[in-house]
Amino acid sequence: MAMVCLLDFEAYAEKYLPKMAWDFFAAGADECSTRDENILAYKRIRFRPRMLRDVSMLDTRTKILGTEISFPVGIAPTGFHQLAWPDGEKSTARAAKAMGTCYIASTYSTCSLEEIAAAAPGGFRWFQLYIHRNRAVSKQLVQQAEALGFQGLVLTADLPYTGKRRNDVRNGFQLPPHMKLKNLEGAFEGNDQSEYGLPPNSLDPSVTWDDIYWLRSLTHLPIVIKGILTKEDAELAVRHGVQGIIVSNHGGRQLDGAPATIDALVEVVEAVRGRVEVYLDGGIRKGSDVLKALALGAKCVFIGRPALWGLAYKGEEGLQDVLRILHDEFRLSMALAGCASISEIGQDLVQFSKL
Ligand code: FNR
Repeated sequence: MAMVCLLDFEAYAEKYLPKMAWDFFAAGADECSTRDENILAYKRIRFRPRMLRDVSMLDTRTKILGTEISFPVGIAPTGFHQLAWPDGEKSTARAAKAMGTCYIASTYSTCSLEEIAAAAPGGFRWFQLYIHRNRAVSKQLVQQAEALGFQGLVLTADLPYTGKRRNDVRNGFQLPPHMKLKNLEGAFEGNDQSEYGLPPNSLDPSVTWDDIYWLRSLTHLPIVIKGILTKEDAELAVRHGVQGIIVSNHGGRQLDGAPATIDALVEVVEAVRGRVEVYLDGGIRKGSDVLKALALGAKCVFIGRPALWGLAYKGEEGLQDVLRILHDEFRLSMALAGCASISEIGQDLVQFSKL
């Protein structure tokens, strides 16, 4: 099977993954309107490409929080990589390092943070945190990530409770017995693992903006907040001293009816006024999507499901294939739009009418 675009990896994953794993990766909340909107919204945006601008030398490198990456696409935090490939997050870490980009490792990894760090020494990684009711567990994870050389802390803000994903309910989704949430092993009492491998209600739904100060007291790492969709929350994030914002709706897995992230990006970028870096995830499926997001003010984007499809195809190699294809497509889109470097990508590159 010739793998030409990211959708080929999706088709492969759908065909070969066990149904329960495929359904879990694909799931959106309720009717999946937000999940699908994330993709459709890109199709409504048109370019204003410029011509005759010497695109013989193309430079796709950029920096996020001061660290250079080979092109502005990183790997969003997603749980349970062993459902896609036996080596799980270790393969993800190796692929991200090989391709010179950032990997955000999830709290819900099936490999431990130590294993991830050891798999790709010196790789550029951030750690994504879900705050648990047992704060000692969260504190320990943050400090462990910092000690292991992770370079950023990503707080996911949009999951006080898990969204209702119908197929997971129908399938009675559970991790296979040989897979464990390695970062949380032994952290909770009792054997009930009925909620995605954890006891029910282990997440803390009482988290507020003040908890950013709590995190600040635990770590020197820059803090990035993930799951922001409005100018009001963007302003609060800046005021509470975060270093970055990921505009995200969790791949449409949380509040169905939330806007597509590319539609929410503009108001967040306008509110932030360059005070912190703004990133985006959700619905990135081709190089031109990346170009549109950068034109509308994102410093970098992250891919969730496409990384899982790459892993399902061939582990580390498959994820490298996904990143390589996206890199090639992005480079070509830049050239065809008349941009030789990232600094030449600006808002005048797209026609965009606000909803
Ligand atoms: C996620 N996402 C997610 N986010 C997070 O902060 N921590 C996590 O553990 C997970 N887990 C997770 C599992 C799966 C299977 C998916 C699909 C998503 C959300 C993820 O970081 C990101 O926001 C979306 O996946 C981006 O959308 P796309 O690229 O999948 O369209």
